[in-house]
Parts: sequence; structure tokens; C-alpha cells
Amino acid sequence: MQLLDGRIASQIIQQQLAEDWRSQQEFLGRPPHLACILVGHHPPSETYVASKIKACANIGFQSSLIRFPDTIQEDELLEKIRQLNADTAVDGILVQLPLPRHIDEQTVIQAIDPDKDVDGFHPINMGRLANGLQGFIPATPLGILLLLEHYRVHTRGLHAVVIGRSHIVGTPVSLLLSRNREPGNCTVTLCHSQTRHLELFTRQADLIVAALGKPAFLKAHMVKEGAVVVDVGINRVVDSSKKLGFRLVGDVDFEEVAPKCSYITPVPGGVGPMTIAALLKNTYEAARLHAQHRFSS
Ligand code: GUN
Repeated sequence: MQLLDGRIASQIIQQQLAEDWRSQQEFLGRPPHLACILVGHHPPSETYVASKIKACANIGFQSSLIRFPDTIQEDELLEKIRQLNADTAVDGILVQLPLPRHIDEQTVIQAIDPDKDVDGFHPINMGRLANGLQGFIPATPLGILLLLEHYRVHTRGLHAVVIGRSHIVGTPVSLLLSRNREPGNCTVTLCHSQTRHLELFTRQADLIVAALGKPAFLKAHMVKEGAVVVDVGINRVVDSSKKLGFRLVGDVDFEEVAPKCSYITPVPGGVGPMTIAALLKNTYEAARLHAQHRFSS
């Protein structure tokens, strides 16, 4: 069993991005700039956004953190997004999800300029992905592809089973793994909460992407010997022995499943750090796109 170590792969990709930005400094004119909007005080969101801001600083990118209380009205949030869309000093806009219930997530996502949508959640970018066109790929799915690529895990012809059909992970991952390129070229089965006899599918899988958000859900009896297992879950489980009062547990029962795998991602330290690397990659691409537009206009 080989560990797919997201910390190492993410570090290498981030170093490469730092070098790319330095070598393209003259063309880009200024550092790539990511604007993050954080509404309320959802503890995991606070942690994720802090990691994104820190990662930008580490590689010389600029970032802005725009915070709003959870009482903010949708109109006010939309107005801020319109300002950021028009701001030529901003390359990428990210609105951390989830949003408070009185705000419609789709309305907010659709207000973001698709060319600044580094999360890849805008229907235009989702449509580009579905049609095999160039666009921003959501950070977690892109991070998974980058991790498979980094460890040269060949996916051609594999039967991939994706568990979870969210717009953020499961749906885009299933599209990406079925594309006619590497990593990709898989035969994909997308399973979800209504799938009957889930283990019949997972036991046939050469590659499993677990993205359902249930701690230690995938057990050894559900996995074929030699399978590749990618664990997207980052679940907080109460643990009074920990300083913060919780520990992070993936969607895979790592202790049970790992011995059966050819490759497996750990939690933490697997897909999580790759999401950051992919977001920075998208931000760099957005900055290149904007510099190209400045030159050609
Ligand atoms: N919440 C959980 N994952 C994500 C993500 O990738 N992007 C944003 N914006 N919010 C999230």
C-alpha cells in the first residue's frame, strides 16, 4: 500500500506556482490576487479560509479577506461581488460555502464573473466542464486529479466508483474521471444516498472516491483487494483527548481499508492540501487570463 500524500504533492505544486509567478512577473504586472468572502463564523469555514489566505502569502500571491456577519442581506453580498467583478486588481473570487440559510447560494455563485470563478462553481464553468471545454475546474476535484497525476496512478480503463453527487465534488469528479485524457478514461459509476446495495458497486471498483460526508463509512468488506481509494471526507468527530475537542476523520475507515489498497489518501493530509494547491493553480490561471486580456485590448 502506498500513501497518496497530499501534503508533499501540494507543496511541490505550490513551489512550482511560486516559480511560475516569479518568471512571469513582467507579463502579469502584479501578483495574482484572490479575494475570499467569508460570511458568519462557521468554524470549519474559518479554518479553510485561513489556510487559503496563508497559502497565497507563502507563494507571493495577494489575497483579501472580506468578512460579513451572518445577518448580511443577499443584496449586500451581491453588491460586493459586483464590485469585485469590476475590480481589475482582483483575479479570483471565492465565496466560502455554506452560506446562511436566508441567502441563496446559487444566486450568489451566479453573480461571480465566470472568468474570476476560481472555485469553478458557476454554471458556465460547470457547463464547460461537462462539454470538455477550457474553464475553471472546482478545486477539490482538480486537486484529486493533480494528486493521481503526481503519484502516476494510471486510471485508463479503471472502473471508478464515486460515492456522493454534490456539485462541489461528486458530480464534477465523475465527469473528470470519464474524460478522454489522463487522469481519466475511467468507466464511472456515480453512487449516492439512494443507491441500493452500495457495496455491490464499491466491491467491483478499481478506484473509489468517497465524498459523502460520513465518518469512517467505507469499510474493508466494501473494497476490492488492490483498489485505489481517495477519501474526500473531512469530518469533525468529538474527541475530548484532543486540544480542540475534536479530531478529523475521513469517509473511509482508514485502519481497516488501507491494508487492502494499492494507493490510499490519508485524512488529514490527503485531498485537503490538494484543494489548496488546485485553488492557487486556478488563481494563477485567472491572473494569466486577465493579463492576456489587458495586452490584447
Ligand atoms: N466549502 C466547502 N468546500 C468548499 C470549496 O471548495 N469552496 C468554497 N467556496 N466553499 C467550500
